[in-house]
Amino acid sequence: MSQGEPYLRVVWTDPETGRHGYVVIDRLVRGISGGGTRVRRGVTLEEVERLARTMTYKNGALNVPSGGAKSGLDCDLSEPGGRDLLVRFVRAMLPLLQSRWATAEDMGVTQEELDSVFEEVGLGLSVYAGLKATGDFDGAMALVRRGLSVKVEGIGLADLIGGYGVAEAAAAALEHLGRPIQGTRAVVQGFGSMGGGTARYLARSGVKVVGAVDVHGCVVNPEGLDVERLLANRTAAGDIERASLPSGTGERPREEWLDIDCEILVPAALGDVLTEANADAVRASVVVEAANIPTTEAAGRRLHERGVVVVPDFVANSAANGWWWSVMMGIVAPTEQAAYEWARATIRRTVRRLLMLSQERKVTPREAAEAIAIENTNALAEEYGTEEPVARAQASV
Ligand SMILES: NC(=O)c1ccc[n+]([C@@H]2O[C@H](COP(=O)([O-])OP(=O)(O)OC[C@H]3O[C@@H](n4cnc5c(N)ncnc54)[C@H](O)[C@@H]3O)[C@@H](O)[C@H]2O)c1
Repeated sequence: MSQGEPYLRVVWTDPETGRHGYVVIDRLVRGISGGGTRVRRGVTLEEVERLARTMTYKNGALNVPSGGAKSGLDCDLSEPGGRDLLVRFVRAMLPLLQSRWATAEDMGVTQEELDSVFEEVGLGLSVYAGLKATGDFDGAMALVRRGLSVKVEGIGLADLIGGYGVAEAAAAALEHLGRPIQGTRAVVQGFGSMGGGTARYLARSGVKVVGAVDVHGCVVNPEGLDVERLLANRTAAGDIERASLPSGTGERPREEWLDIDCEILVPAALGDVLTEANADAVRASVVVEAANIPTTEAAGRRLHERGVVVVPDFVANSAANGWWWSVMMGIVAPTEQAAYEWARATIRRTVRRLLMLSQERKVTPREAAEAIAIENTNALAEEYGTEEPVARAQASV
């Protein structure tokens, strides 16, 4: 299959404001695709298209039988009429959401807000199409609802499993390099769902988290931050409360995040934060991409030349997406223990395989991971077809 054109690009114009909304289905497997809804002023079709391709790779890397998709709405939910704009967009996309595209939260919208919009338009859950594709809608819905209700020490499992996977990816990369994890130092940029969860599980595996960066700046401690205390005092937006910082904690401006000495660097906030201009300033030997597309192509090449191992986003941060699908399809039980066992085994195996392949073929880890993901997706499309089973059955009559 050609990796060129996406299967479908939709451009919607809001009749009331003239603003645009986009959906890109990169490809279908089993008649279905999955990918989040980004709500951001200025979002572009090109950005959505790149992210949709990444979702195809993300599913392929973990052998999830679904294609990739993404949507973007040019909107800020805090502006007057923002939520109404999102409701109109979701209503307009109903034909896709009922049959071919399962979505979830992305930047600019919480799952809670999205669920309330889907309730209002009569679809119930944002993953409606995914539930339908399982062939047992009610059973799959019950599993997803149980999974979403699990809390781990005050934080939802759905918000943590992504970060757990990132920490496992870091551990697998260190193992590949023959370095111990105990006492290794890490800096995490972003302290929301991904960054906060990653910091928790890195700290639990013996890593010293020496820097946590949020939109307000860097919080540092060369001896290791008290991650649990920072998590306990985190705002709903994923920001660290400065008023309750433990003693021994220092602060630095946000721009100095690359100056903090560490062996593991985890960008877990924005895209394109590692560029050709700052790639040489990276001190870490391992970069684990928790955010989507945090490293530009040129920076990726430069880091590879310098011997820095970059674990690509669509593997490193794939546990959240993979967990949703695996629970929905009844492959992973909706419990904390089952989620962790699945994520540990799956992420470690995938990272090990892609780093071996990168070495063998003398390509970047991203190129190796893309090759694995494309091979898996093509095999899944072969096994399950690209159209939904009903349509295929009808077509063959
Ligand atoms: N949540 C998921 O399930 C998930 C899954 C895969 C990938 N991702 C990606 O991970 C990234 C973070 O998502 P999230 O859900 O954790 O977001 P979030 O909204 O929960 O947290 C964002 C964090 O980034 C910080 N931040 C914002 N601007 C910053 C800046 N300029 N410098 C430093 N820090 C800044 C915020 O203060 C906050 O701590 C995004 O790229 C997202 O696409 C998220």
